[in-house]
Amino acid sequence: MRFNLKDILNTELYPLHEPEGPAYEELVKHSRNLFLAEGSVTLQDFLRPEAVTAAVANIDVNMTNAWNTDGEHNIFLDTGDPEYLENHIRNQRFHTKVSSLAYDMLDPEGPLSTLYRDDNFREFLRLVLGVDKLFRLEDPLGALSVNIFQPGDRHSWHFDQSSHSVTIMLQKPDAGGHFRKTGQIRRTRHDKSEELFSVLNEVIQNENEQDMEKNKEHEETNSKSVKTLKFDPGTLSIFSGSTSLHKVTCVHGTRSRQVAVLCYATRQGKKNSPEVQKLFWGRVK
Ligand SMILES: [Fe+2]
Repeated sequence: MRFNLKDILNTELYPLHEPEGPAYEELVKHSRNLFLAEGSVTLQDFLRPEAVTAAVANIDVNMTNAWNTDGEHNIFLDTGDPEYLENHIRNQRFHTKVSSLAYDMLDPEGPLSTLYRDDNFREFLRLVLGVDKLFRLEDPLGALSVNIFQPGDRHSWHFDQSSHSVTIMLQKPDAGGHFRKTGQIRRTRHDKSEELFSVLNEVIQNENEQDMEKNKEHEETNSKSVKTLKFDPGTLSIFSGSTSLHKVTCVHGTRSRQVAVLCYATRQGKKNSPEVQKLFWGRVK
């Protein structure tokens, strides 16, 4: 089946196909204000259930083509700083295990690829992010990909290197796999200050996965408190991952957690480095 935007999006709630209409202007204003205030916007029921089902079916038959990453990284996803001790928060390493299905493994006529190629969708993102220009990545593997968390998988604490991320929840696991995030505790995406290190220590000490359910009931509202994002299948998330610390908790049960990752850049022609391609998709293209 070929999809068009109206088959994919819940256009009653999110009229991205009618950018001239008054509802569109309201939606952009609301989303932009939320993104500015909190560093994230989540739009629930963004995809139609049929589109989610079709995407998951395509992922399930391609599951064996996903590349598994199993290793350690620091919070900044870099090689660390020898000025600090190995167990300092600047260098402390955390375990991550997750698989990723590359763009060239997804159905080019399926709902995810069709949405990614859509200019109305890209223009909507550009307005919410408040940037002059927004381009799709010219990366045959990483422009659009799906993160698959099998039971036992997790993505530990980190800041993203890209300023923002656009993701869509496709399938939730039976249990666990919660997206946990702070507010915008980092002033800029390049901040590696002592002040930030002390905040990071505080956040990580306070976070205890055993107490997560309890904490959810008594959340404080300062930027250091960690919240679980309400992220149900079909939800679109636009998130400033370079300034908010975040992680995905361990997945439990039998069903995988599947999240589409849609990448954009403010410069045309951008592509991941061969090193990054090799790390996340096991090959270079
Ligand atoms: Fe991230």
